[in-house]
Parts: sequence; C-alpha cells; structure tokens
Amino acid sequence: MHNENLLRSALDPIETASIDELRALQLKRMQWSIAHAYNNVPAYKAMCDEKGVHPFELRTLEDLKHFPFTTKAYLRDAYPFDSFAVPMNEVVRVHASSGTTGKPTVVGYTQHDIDTWADVVARSIRAAGGHYGDKVHISYGYGLFTGGMGAHYGAERLGCTVIPMSGGQTEKQVQLIQDFDPDIIMVTPSYMLNLIDEMERQNVDPEKLALRLGIFGAEPWTDEMRKNIEGRLGIDAVDIYGLSEVMGPGVAMECIETKDGPTIWEDHFYPEIIDPNTGEVLPDGEYGELVFTSLSKEALPIIRYRTRDLTRLLPGTARPMRRIDKITGRSDDMMIIRGVNVFPTQIEEQILKIPALAPHYEIVVTKDGNLDKVLVKVELTVEAQSAPQDQVSKELAHHIKSVVGISTKIEIVPTGALPRSEGKAKRVFDNR
Ligand code: DLL
Repeated sequence: MHNENLLRSALDPIETASIDELRALQLKRMQWSIAHAYNNVPAYKAMCDEKGVHPFELRTLEDLKHFPFTTKAYLRDAYPFDSFAVPMNEVVRVHASSGTTGKPTVVGYTQHDIDTWADVVARSIRAAGGHYGDKVHISYGYGLFTGGMGAHYGAERLGCTVIPMSGGQTEKQVQLIQDFDPDIIMVTPSYMLNLIDEMERQNVDPEKLALRLGIFGAEPWTDEMRKNIEGRLGIDAVDIYGLSEVMGPGVAMECIETKDGPTIWEDHFYPEIIDPNTGEVLPDGEYGELVFTSLSKEALPIIRYRTRDLTRLLPGTARPMRRIDKITGRSDDMMIIRGVNVFPTQIEEQILKIPALAPHYEIVVTKDGNLDKVLVKVELTVEAQSAPQDQVSKELAHHIKSVVGISTKIEIVPTGALPRSEGKAKRVFDNR
C-alpha cells in the first residue's frame, strides 16, 4: 500500500491513548468549549449567569455538573442561527432536524467542524471494519438530515468509493447494489429491511453480492434485528449513533471485533448519564438520559445537551473510550401502558424471537374508557404463510405479557401490508 493509505488504515493515536491522556485532553478542550460558548452565544451566557457559574470555575471534568443543561428548546428559541458562536461567514454548512411539530432545529458547521466530522465518520467506518478502497453505498437521506452527507464525507475521507444513493427508489437501489458491487451499505436498519424484502422479491441471491458490512443507525434497533439482518444478508451489522445537535452520525460507533455497543469518540464528545427527573449525574453503568458536551465544535458549541436517549455508559473494550449500551429508546417514545413503561424495542425483541414473524411491526395505543389498549400489528414471513395464525398470535402475546409485562392484542396482517420505511421507521401510533 502507498504510505498515505497505510496511514489511513491505522487507528488515530487518541483511539489507543491511555485514559489519563484522554481525560487531560478532554479537560483542556472542555474549558475551551464552554468559554467559547459563553463568550460568543448570548443565550448561553445568560443561562450561566442566571445559574451563577462562570467558565473559569471548570477546573476538573467533574465541575461540569455545575453548568446548566441545554435542551431542544434552547435551540428552538435560538432559531435559526442565534446558537452559533462564529460569524455567519465562517459557517460553511447548515443542517436541520425535522422535528414533528413546529420549527426545525438548525445546526451549523465551520470548515474545521466539517473536517472533524469527516474524521470521526472515517474513524467510525474503520472501526466497523471498512477500509481504504471499499465501495460504500449510502442510503441515508441527503439534504437537511445529517445522515447522507455525514456518511458521505466520512467515507470519502477514509478513501472509499462513495455511491451517494440517498433514500427512496427502492427498486433502483437493489439494482445498483447488484451492478456496482458495494462492500458496505450505510442505511437505517428499517430501510435495510425494506431493501432486503425488495431483494427477495427480485430473487436476488445475497450470496452473490459483494456486500460484507452494514453500518446501521439513526433509530433504535435490537440485537434480535441485528441477527435477522446478518442472517438474511450474510453480512456483519454494526451500530452507528449520532444526533444532529451534537454533530450528526459518528458521535459513537460500534467496533466490529466486539459488537457490544457504540464506542463514544470521547476526544470530541463528552458523555454524561443523568437521572431524567432530577438532573443528577449518575455513575457509569446506571441507566438514564444521555447528555453530551461538544469539545471541539466551533460553529455550534453545545454544552450538556439533553439527548432524551436512554442508555448507560459502559467501560471500553475494543478501545479505551467508553461505550453506550444499545439505546433503549427516546424518552419521547416511551409508552406508559397502565402504569408500565414500554419501549418499542422491547416489543421488537419479542416479535423477532418468533421465526414465523417478519421484522415489520406497528404498535397502536388507544384508550377504552380508562384502560390503555395496545394493538401490535405484525406480518408472517414469506416462508411462513401457512403458519397457524392463532397460535403465533397467542405465542407473541404471551411473550410480551411475561417479559414486558403488558397485555396486548395481536393482529397478523397480510405480508407486505404494513408501510415500509425509507428512513426512520414510525412504529408507534398513540391515539390516546
Ligand atoms: O439520526 C444522525 C444519524 C444519521 C445517526 C445516520 C446515525 C446514522 P437526528 O436526525 O438528529 O440525527 O436524530 C438523532 O436519532 O437522538 C436517537 O434518538 C436516534 N438515533 C440515532 N442513532 C441511533 C442509534 C441522526 N444507533 C436521534 N440507535 C438520536 C438508536 C439512534 N437511536
């Protein structure tokens, strides 16, 4: 290999640095980041002043807990550009997250931010088992969503050949996957399922495809879903995590050698887990809400951003940096069913344990008088069309009751009847 390419396949020095070195770098960067936000974003300064804290009080990483949280509302109030800490002529790109109601959340990047982002996504693809020379088919949406362009710049940075397909045109995607022979696909897990269905419809033999690796994220998915996709496609499936407010994809990436939850690129993103009710910082290993502080971002420094994602911090394995456990869900996706907290991923796990059921599902919640009612719509797999529906429904209801703790009604709809995802899947319809 040419020298430069050898360099590209080596780990970044910080990926193997000692914890002491990492913590020292984090402290230095955190002091810079908080001062940068305080000095350049009036709304952030006002929050600190109100709480009576000043950036010079951050002497250790633990001191971070004295600083105020930022939330989606902070960004919404700053709409569109008041959260930026640099003059607009230094902002080379904006993205926005759609938000189901009202104004989108706008984020901005300097050229340096775009470079950092490309670096962490390149690092992520490498941790996933990708390398220089791989062809990467990108089906994350391009546009205001960070998925497509984030993946794109990272794959280019690693020295891959990029196929910038974006979302949609499912038939054509399958055609190009056969014709262009990508080694890697980057897509939401739910859209991957849709693509696999289309491959089956077109009688594409996965064995004949060059694909060896899927980098899936942007929505919660379970280990059962991983096994389903890996089994049907004969590839490795790994988890990429990120959010636009913090950067986009590539905040954390699961390493292929361990497949045990995404490693957080802690040299750029400092994680905390808090009790979502009290805001108290919880020790590593305890479940709570994930909070991030950006350590190097120029255009939009974000301090103690409450992601609403629920997980826990785990010690490093493939890298010294800490990992997150697979995201259980967002606090907004949590359904409270007759007093029991339920996440769609818990239902997904039970569906995928039944071989006759396809990995597509919808959860419909209604109220009957004072009682919450849950309907789970599922499909039989193409191979299991003659399976006894009553028995399958009973089995699923029983598993959900005994593991998740709620009674549900199961409806088996015709195979192919549930809407298929082209990006992030919508699983829950709460009609209460
Ligand atoms: O979804 C960025 C991204 C694009 C990540 C492509 C990975 C791949 P947003 O649209 O701002 O950004 O949505 C961020 O999506 O707070 C989580 O709730 C969820 N999410 C993202 N990745 C994962 C994942 C992108 N691997 C929100 N597992 C986050 C579970 C995820 N949830």
